[in-house]
Amino acid sequence: MNILILGSGGREHALAWAFRQNPKCDQLFVAPGNAGIAEIAECAAIDILSRAAVLEFAQENAVDFVVIGPEAPLAAGVSDALREAGFLVFGPSQAAAQLEASKGFTKEICDACDAPTAAWARFDDGAAARDYVLAQGAPIVVKADGLAAGKGVTVAETVPEALAAIDAIFDGAFGEPSVVIEEFMSGEEASFFVLCDGDTCLPIGTAQDHKRVGEGDTGPNTGGMGAYSPAPVMTDAVQQQVMDQIVRPTMAEMAARGTPFQGVLFVGLMIENGRGRLVEYNVRFGDPECQVLMMRLGAQALDLIHACVENRLDGITVNWADDHALTVVMAADGYPGDYQKGSRINGLDALPADGFNMVFHAGTAARDDAVIATGGRVLACTGRGETLEQAHARAYALVDGVDWPQGFCRRDIGWRALGRGGSPVSD
Ligand code: AMP
Ligand code: GLY
Repeated sequence: MNILILGSGGREHALAWAFRQNPKCDQLFVAPGNAGIAEIAECAAIDILSRAAVLEFAQENAVDFVVIGPEAPLAAGVSDALREAGFLVFGPSQAAAQLEASKGFTKEICDACDAPTAAWARFDDGAAARDYVLAQGAPIVVKADGLAAGKGVTVAETVPEALAAIDAIFDGAFGEPSVVIEEFMSGEEASFFVLCDGDTCLPIGTAQDHKRVGEGDTGPNTGGMGAYSPAPVMTDAVQQQVMDQIVRPTMAEMAARGTPFQGVLFVGLMIENGRGRLVEYNVRFGDPECQVLMMRLGAQALDLIHACVENRLDGITVNWADDHALTVVMAADGYPGDYQKGSRINGLDALPADGFNMVFHAGTAARDDAVIATGGRVLACTGRGETLEQAHARAYALVDGVDWPQGFCRRDIGWRALGRGGSPVSD
């Protein structure tokens, strides 16, 4: 199979790395890719938001199968264009990608299928939104109703904070002025990844991300500073409840509307008292969650994803090892605010690269035989082991082997699960 992966982050490096281990992978293209990906695949500098450019590349290079990493091409309908042209595509249609692109849409789906989530209201009018917040009180959650790269959400502790967030949205900070206001949910957050082929849903792993930039979960939100898998809070019982009450009803509702979902559903959950409620859906793998999932799944990731696009998930099982993976993101100083590009990263060649230790690249490029940082999140140092402690030690040994004075990371990735001894909690 000739495969094209769209994207350039640590997520896409991890997918490429897992696919490469599978003998069914012949030629592997990644567009646009990065310096790490270029070592294992052919990178193509095409505009992945352009349906015409992606289609032309796939046709010219005899690609059989396209895997779409990030949300932007999905929301732009790149999967529809490829499918219409007869390609196998992993990733939902533009219509089904609304589960991520519109928070209001997801809330309507939850209402229609009775999936447990926070109570909510949507407003296109600032004054009405303000009145609603004044009536509800705080804490309360204010969300811009569209793709805002994770930056459109304010968990407001006070009413003035919520009102300020509403004003920012209606001042046009996030494009279209529309707001979703939600009940604040307390509990522990976890992510659940489920392959869906339109009929069958197959769980492929759980993870916990670290969204804040600072240790102890402080400071501004980021795309994710580190993750581990499995998430102890996602017990078998919680997974079962979430599949029964949230995932399968959502998939049935999408199919009933004539817009079945095919791809990976990233289910963001709040867990409290042994029960999950939906925080949000994403319609793609998480970054850096994908890095820990791929380390654990290895070569079978390609078989699972291929079965998903061929509508063959019924009867497929995941071969689980009793293992743990943990990834630590190294970011450029200043991230998630302004940061410098172009600093040189040394020491990567001396690091191990195998099924237990991998430095996935995110924002990197090769310049004159050197690797330079070109993004905010730059590397994802990933370890796997029999225990979370082992995975943690391997990941931080990689971090310590990277010579990059202009970068930083959180030193406390995994604290929640390590504090529990790393083993799953009982129900
Ligand atoms: P979202 O982009 O919808 O995932 O929201 C970003 C983050 O805000 C989530 O990961 C949660 O930490 C938090 N959040 C979102 N909605 C709620 C809610 N209703 N209650 C509590 N926290 C929330
Ligand atoms: N790490 C969170 C995300 O990919 O959205």
